[in-house]
Amino acid sequence: MQASADVNQRIARLSAHLNPLMNNLQKEGSTNLRQENCRAKGGSPGFKVAILGAAGGIGQPLAMLMKMNPLVSVLHLYDVVNTPGVTADISHMDTGAVVHGFLGQQQLEDALTGMDLVIIPAGVPRKPGMTRDDLFNINAGIVRTLCEGISKCCPKAIVNLISNPVNSTVPIAAEVFKRAGTYDPRRLLGVTMLDVVRANTFVAEVLGLDPRDIDVPVVGGHAGVTILPLLSQVKPPCSFTQEETEYLTSRIQNGGTEVVEAKAGAGSATLSMAYAAVKFADACLHALRGDAGVIQCAFVSSQVTELPFFASRVRLGRNGVEEIYPLGPLNEYERVGLEKAKKELGGSIEKGVSFTTGSSQTTLNGVASFFCRCFPVASFFQWWRFLRVALVSPFPALVFPVSSSSSAFCGDFPVWTAMKSTARTATMVTLNSTSSNRPTLSKDNVSNNLPMSQVTSISSPPPPQAFGTQDSMEAITNLH
Ligand SMILES: NC(=O)c1ccc[n+]([C@@H]2O[C@H](COP(=O)([O-])OP(=O)(O)OC[C@H]3O[C@@H](n4cnc5c(N)ncnc54)[C@H](O)[C@@H]3O)[C@@H](O)[C@H]2O)c1
Repeated sequence: MQASADVNQRIARLSAHLNPLMNNLQKEGSTNLRQENCRAKGGSPGFKVAILGAAGGIGQPLAMLMKMNPLVSVLHLYDVVNTPGVTADISHMDTGAVVHGFLGQQQLEDALTGMDLVIIPAGVPRKPGMTRDDLFNINAGIVRTLCEGISKCCPKAIVNLISNPVNSTVPIAAEVFKRAGTYDPRRLLGVTMLDVVRANTFVAEVLGLDPRDIDVPVVGGHAGVTILPLLSQVKPPCSFTQEETEYLTSRIQNGGTEVVEAKAGAGSATLSMAYAAVKFADACLHALRGDAGVIQCAFVSSQVTELPFFASRVRLGRNGVEEIYPLGPLNEYERVGLEKAKKELGGSIEKGVSFTTGSSQTTLNGVASFFCRCFPVASFFQWWRFLRVALVSPFPALVFPVSSSSSAFCGDFPVWTAMKSTARTATMVTLNSTSSNRPTLSKDNVSNNLPMSQVTSISSPPPPQAFGTQDSMEAITNLH
């Protein structure tokens, strides 16, 4: 017994001599090497990438695939729930990227600081029977909050926006960046890659070919008829019967719904979307590295059509979108499809733009009502009414219309109307000033198509949307 204790002591002395670091730690009462004592703080050189919404159905596989990307050196995972678990899990993969997790709005800025590429799959997905547009009220507020963070912490980052409805969230992001003075249309890209991935797969099925050999340009937007596959421009060149064209177009346009229905309430495409998002992000990183000839389809600020945003083939470079290719020759079927797509897309873009300008209307209304309350002349008639009633009432305080509502003080008094009209003019100015950075909604678009809807909503501001983290989380809980 005594002999074996001696042997153990001798081995401990030897091991302490051979491993002084462990010896020191043991002296401090610690038996294990702690993570913070590890020397390695970074892996391979590369880009810094943040995923916002990293704990979600898309976010998790996307995070895993980005951790495997050799061009990524630092990976930031941000969400309002569950990021510690996802981060711990993914950080054990023996690939080069170093992973950090960030939880909740108070850590958003840390998550974003210094990023080269920000990928946003945050928000709620569709359930059966819903269109992508039905997600607008929740996801619009989420995207706005996240983009405000990007403006502040990494205004030069390339942004890959996945949250639906992409046709509206990209215009929302553009407006947020414009207001912050950081808008660079080349760096904001709506991810429509899944439509291309599906198109390649479905066309390959029809032709009996390997999908990796197929390249289908898909233009327009990312919802229903706005998804327009250009089957006349498939590479390698091939032809389709009318029946095949109709089948393929419809399947590509409804690919998302096919998944939503098959998942029967458990969400929308997540795995194929993560694959598509990584394919697109990888293209962006190669372009950032300076690789030539990186061409992908994306929903971007565009002059290819009269619409301010449109998805088409773009060449990516160090600054994001460096060239936008024209649509090329379309056949009759595609021309008809294009007109349908533009009609619907125009409305979705307008909705996104007015979401942000709408909130500036609300602010202006607030400012107007504040002045109206403080401006004594504004309530002249109210005072006169008060005095008249007070003369006949023993309880004047009870008859005076004390209310937090500005209309209670101002009623339909002309000064209030004048205030509203000032707000209206200011909003028109805001709208026009947003059009200074072409390509976006131009003054012409504003005066021809937009202003009446914008201006009427000034007198009766829209109900508040679900903004930011807390509201959106409540909404998410209700939906799930
Ligand atoms: N562009 C496309 O082709 C495409 C394809 C499929 C899905 N989508 C869209 O992607 C979005 C995400 O889909 P999903 O299936 O991963 O949904 P999900 O509900 O599984 O995950 C969304 C994640 O976003 C997080 N989140 C919510 N509010 C947030 C906030 N304020 N900040 C950060 N994170 C927040 C949630 O906590 C959740 O983890 C949906 O809007 C969906 O419609 C887009």
